[in-house]
Amino acid sequence: MVEVTPTTGAPERRSSVTVKDNTSDTSWELPVLEGTLGPRVIDVRKLYTEHGLFTYDPGFTSTGSCESKITFIDGEEGVLLYRGYPIQDLAEHADFMEVSYLLLHGELPTPEQKTKFVRDITYHTMLHEQIHIFYRGFRRDAHPMAVLVGVVGALSAFYHDSTDISDARQRLIASHRLIAKIPTIAAMAYKYSVGQPFTYPRNDLNYVENFLHMTFAVPTEEYKIDPVVARAMDRIFILHADHEQNASTSTVRIAGSSGANPFACIAAGIASLWGPAHGGANEAVLNMLQEIGHKDRIPEFIKRAKDKDDPFRLMGFGHRVYKNYDPRAAVMRKSTHEVLDALDSRNEPLLELAMELERIALEDEYFVERKLYPNVDFYSGIILQAIGFPTSMFTVLFAVARTVGWIAQWNEMIEDPSQRIGRPRQLYTGHPQRDYVPMDRRG
Ligand code: ACO
Repeated sequence: MVEVTPTTGAPERRSSVTVKDNTSDTSWELPVLEGTLGPRVIDVRKLYTEHGLFTYDPGFTSTGSCESKITFIDGEEGVLLYRGYPIQDLAEHADFMEVSYLLLHGELPTPEQKTKFVRDITYHTMLHEQIHIFYRGFRRDAHPMAVLVGVVGALSAFYHDSTDISDARQRLIASHRLIAKIPTIAAMAYKYSVGQPFTYPRNDLNYVENFLHMTFAVPTEEYKIDPVVARAMDRIFILHADHEQNASTSTVRIAGSSGANPFACIAAGIASLWGPAHGGANEAVLNMLQEIGHKDRIPEFIKRAKDKDDPFRLMGFGHRVYKNYDPRAAVMRKSTHEVLDALDSRNEPLLELAMELERIALEDEYFVERKLYPNVDFYSGIILQAIGFPTSMFTVLFAVARTVGWIAQWNEMIEDPSQRIGRPRQLYTGHPQRDYVPMDRRG
């Protein structure tokens, strides 16, 4: 047995813990590192080489996989900071391009920097024309996430001049290409699924307006962008832009740690995001609300969510990190009201149902005890449906917004001198070595 005792450290950035191994009656010191915010971390990098031990942490609940300066979350307090700025302030005062610059470069842009950044992104909004033919290989009823994974992965086959990850300039171009092209790819996935012609990007529109235009415009009539909808979409993109080392971001980092090109890494992140426990949850929330259908049926579903023999969970509730109200959910809740009011939407009953479900769950001992609060996905589906997106596009929109976060994290990893290939170890519980048994001696 190994005992870990914290050792009082000097009031400096480093302290240590003493580990006592009862099996060999030895003890040794492990350094403790402190960041600017958040829990201290025990540095176990030399644990195996010096002491022959691994740590065991399935799901990485207590493991810091990297050092990062991009995003900070305090799940207990419900705090989310991008480069030190609270998410509420950014959602209120900034736009998605400004936030993208912040995530990528570490500081808010000056007006000149913002103008240049927007120009750099806008320059890359079109896709290689050959990619249009590539789409036609998919079935029309393919899930748009399947199309997104495929087409983003295929970008490396089209943009060879930005796949050398050791060249900072190529990395920057690949970053701009990915941020610029992901809305085009997503809108085309939607257009393909509904049998409408692809709409080319319009560089006179801003990032979000252009995305709405590519998604909803048809050649036969003028598409008017509702400013309330554009602002709400921009906010949704800001709220989803990064979230430190979640499953998809860790996937991007692990894929990138082997030296894979950025297009392949982002495709891996999209695949990871697709799962219902991660980016697929907003789609699941809407399906759940529709299934509940009426306030009277809420108690029945709350009961099911608490029943361990029933696989049903209250979708949009709970979070690995937030043990308090997800700050993004609070912004999203406000935005949902604004959009539904502006659109005079038929989704009003769904919003009322969601608010009542939230009220009942937050008073229920089961949810209170486990600190299960609404997460960002609880309200986003209602807003997106009111805007006109089918549920199958919800996770796609999440991927569009998260691309900048994945790229910022990928770049940070490549530039980190301590970066090595991501290679976790395991606690092996299978057979010890044994002799091969020939077929005629088995059974
Ligand atoms: N409904 C009912 N019970 C829940 C829920 C829920 N939504 N979430 C967690 N619990 C319960 C678990 O059953 C468990 O109970 P127990 O201690 O009695 O066994 C306890 O709360 C802890 O839950 P875990 O599953 O251990 O928490 P974990 O951190 O592994 O999971 C997760 C977090 C996956 C988000 C989970 O809360 C969940 O499945 N929520 C619904 C899906 C969802 O909304 N996902 C979106 C996440 S946000 C995002 O990706 C953008």
